[in-house]
Amino acid sequence: MEFKTSKSSSNIGVVITGVDLSEPLNNDVINEIHNLWVNNYVAIFPNQKLDHNSYADFAKQFGSYGSEPYIGTMKSQPHIVELRRKANETSSPFGGTWHSDWSFQESPPSATMLHSKIVPPVGGDTLFANTALAYDELSLELKEKVKGLNAFHSAKLPYAKDGFYALENEKRTLKIKPSNKANEAYLHPLVRVHKDTKRKSLFINPVYTIGVEGMSEVDAFNLLSELFEHMLQDKYIYRHSWKPNMLIMWDNRSVMHMAEGGYDGHERLMHRITLAGETPLKI
Ligand code: SIN
Repeated sequence: MEFKTSKSSSNIGVVITGVDLSEPLNNDVINEIHNLWVNNYVAIFPNQKLDHNSYADFAKQFGSYGSEPYIGTMKSQPHIVELRRKANETSSPFGGTWHSDWSFQESPPSATMLHSKIVPPVGGDTLFANTALAYDELSLELKEKVKGLNAFHSAKLPYAKDGFYALENEKRTLKIKPSNKANEAYLHPLVRVHKDTKRKSLFINPVYTIGVEGMSEVDAFNLLSELFEHMLQDKYIYRHSWKPNMLIMWDNRSVMHMAEGGYDGHERLMHRITLAGETPLKI
C-alpha cells in the first residue's frame, strides 16, 4: 500500500489512505501522520476496520490516553467511550454544541479520535471550526483587546447536577455522571500557542468558557459573544460526513467541534478516545 494524502476543500482536514492502522506503525509514519494532523487540524482515515484493542493501540502511538470525566468508558477497553444514540432516542445529540473537548481540565486533551461503527443514512455530521485561522483574521483592535487575557473554563453547564445533560439522562443511552465537581472553574489563556506549530488560536468555546478574568459578567459575555460570532463564520467551518469504519483525529488546540443531529429514527455509534495534552501555553 502507498501512503497518500489529499486535502479537503476547506481550510481544515486531510484524508490519509494507504496505511493500515490496525498494524503497528514505524516512527517515520507516526511522525508524518503527526505533522499532517497538527498542520491540517483533522486527519481523516477512511476504511479502517479496527477492533477495540487495535484502536486503543493505534491511539497510544500518538501520546498517552486522556482522562474521561463525567462519562463512562467501555468495560472491555477502559480508554474507549462508546457514543451510541439508539434509533428511538429523543435526547439531544451528545456534543451537539460547539466545544473543545474537556477544556476545563488543567491539561485538556490534545487529540480526540472518533471511529465510526454505525452511521445513519441521513444527518449525524460532525462540524469543525478553525480557531487558529479565526485568531489570525481577528481585527487588530480585537487582537489587542484579547492579548494577555485568561478565560474561565468549567464543566458546569452540561455536567453539574442541574446541568443540561443531567436533565436528559433518562433518555440517553450514553450514561452521563453529573457531579458537583463540575462547578469548579479553571483559568486558561484566551489565546494559546500550539506546542508544535507555534500557531496562536482562540482557546474559548460556548459550552465550557464561562467568563474572563478581571471582567464583569456582562463585559465578558459581550466579548465572548463577539468572538464566537467571528469564530463561527462559514469560512472557518468544515463539515465532516461519515462512512462506516472511518477514523478521524482532531486537534483540540486548534479547532472547536460539534455533533449535528438530524438522524432521529436511526442508530449512530462512534467510539471515542482522547489523548492527554499539555497545559495551554501563553503568547
Ligand atoms: C464529541 O463531541 O466528542 C462527539 C462528536 C460526534 O459524535 O460527532
